Amino acid sequence: MQDPFDRFKDWFEDAQKAEDMADAMSIATVDEQGRPSVRMVLLKDHGPEGFTFYTNLQSRKGLDIKNNNNMAFCFHWKSLARQVRIEGEVNAVSDQEADAYFASRPKDSQIGAWASKQSQPMEGRFEFEARILKYTAKFNLGDVPRPPFWSGFRMTPRKIEFWQDRKFRLHDRHVYNKNDQGNWDIETLYP
Ligand SMILES: Cc1cc2nc3c(=O)[nH]c(=O)nc-3n(C[C@H](O)[C@H](O)[C@H](O)COP(=O)(O)O)c2cc1C
Repeated sequence: MQDPFDRFKDWFEDAQKAEDMADAMSIATVDEQGRPSVRMVLLKDHGPEGFTFYTNLQSRKGLDIKNNNNMAFCFHWKSLARQVRIEGEVNAVSDQEADAYFASRPKDSQIGAWASKQSQPMEGRFEFEARILKYTAKFNLGDVPRPPFWSGFRMTPRKIEFWQDRKFRLHDRHVYNKNDQGNWDIETLYP
């Protein structure tokens, strides 16, 4: 059977043709007490090196990851009746990679990254708007540098499961588990 990254690439391309926001995935972290939380982010890169997303490092997820870098990702492509689950450890992308991605974003998004104290309490919308104005003025001229508290994480998977809906709930489930030699063992699970 295919390499899991090639298979993901095929499924992701199918999903991008079939629906909007095929790159939206739910990602789970755990806090210091082992309590999980989950939220959506956008997949920005994928391939044999892993699966990448970007966020605020001081956010709830950012702080969770600092303490425990085990994560789980999940895609659901409704129109194809497909699910992909990915588990592994995440590590920060390099500063150069984060800088390059940040530089590719629209200026308003760059200013938003500076203005948002993601996941922290806010008095009211006015407070956020005041911060947006502050950073709009500050970075009025020239390029916006990447905030030191904003970067990306890349998941190195140890398990990838491909789920395909079949009639009468007799779904296909193929799990790729990375073995000690770094190769992929494939198993089929009951649906
Ligand atoms: C479709 C969608 C895509 C999102 N993409 C991102 C993203 O790429 N990065 C991000 O930090 N938050 C993204 N968000 C917001 C997160 O879901 C979440 O609200 C935010 O990151 C704070 O999460 P936390 O408090 O658990 O850290 C997205 C939300 C949705 C609904």
